[in-house]
Amino acid sequence: MRVLIIGATGLLGKEVARLLSPEHKVIGATRNGPDMTVDLTDKASIVSMYQQLGTVDAVICTAGSAKFAPLETLTDDDFAFSLANKLMGQVNLVRCAVGHVVQGGSLTLTSGILAQHPMAGSAAVSIVNAGIDAFGRSAALELKGKARVNVVSPGWVSETLAAMGQARSAGVPAEAVAQTYKRCLLEDITGEVIQVVKW
Ligand SMILES: NC(=O)c1ccc[n+]([C@@H]2O[C@H](COP(=O)([O-])OP(=O)(O)OC[C@H]3O[C@@H](n4cnc5c(N)ncnc54)[C@H](OP(=O)(O)O)[C@@H]3O)[C@@H](O)[C@H]2O)c1
Repeated sequence: MRVLIIGATGLLGKEVARLLSPEHKVIGATRNGPDMTVDLTDKASIVSMYQQLGTVDAVICTAGSAKFAPLETLTDDDFAFSLANKLMGQVNLVRCAVGHVVQGGSLTLTSGILAQHPMAGSAAVSIVNAGIDAFGRSAALELKGKARVNVVSPGWVSETLAAMGQARSAGVPAEAVAQTYKRCLLEDITGEVIQVVKW
């Protein structure tokens, strides 16, 4: 299969690319390559990427940012940034995929467990993640028969915790999270929001 991975150079994207290669042809896209450039916050750049890409069997998005900060310090711009980036970036990836993904192809987005289990500082992130979960389920309904849409919702990833000086053991290794993206690609599922969390 030809699989487009947005965020292919990031922590999760690299593991997904490693897991799928060389069995599948992975095309990596971020703001800086390696194969294509795209800025999720810019719908025109998403359209342009798809036009250059031709047809793929699957799109996996492991990119998208939202502002993590105490509610009292979050500005209008912080909320606008978060909604335009991780939420609308992935919504537009799905909207613009029509005609560029094969019949029955697979679209996999990334949200995060802060949608269901917020913590101090997660107001904007939690809104965005919940929006992605809701969008994924409803897009799957409307695209039934045309494309499958699923969402991977990770909790803390071990490598991220380690980078923050916290115990890796409280998280799930990126390699294990990547297995869930592979599942969304290969299994005949749609409309699923799959949480990957160490409780
Ligand atoms: N790591 C965790 O613990 C964790 C937990 C829950 C959820 N998540 C979610 O999982 C996703 C991936 O996390 P990660 O830790 O793998 O992130 P990461 O290591 O920071 O990687 C992000 C990737 O996305 C690309 N990217 C960033 N902004 C972009 C944009 N506007 N347009 C296109 N590409 C862009 C980056 O490349 P360029 O900078 O070159 O564009 C990079 O390849 C995020 O949505 C995050 O919220 C992560």
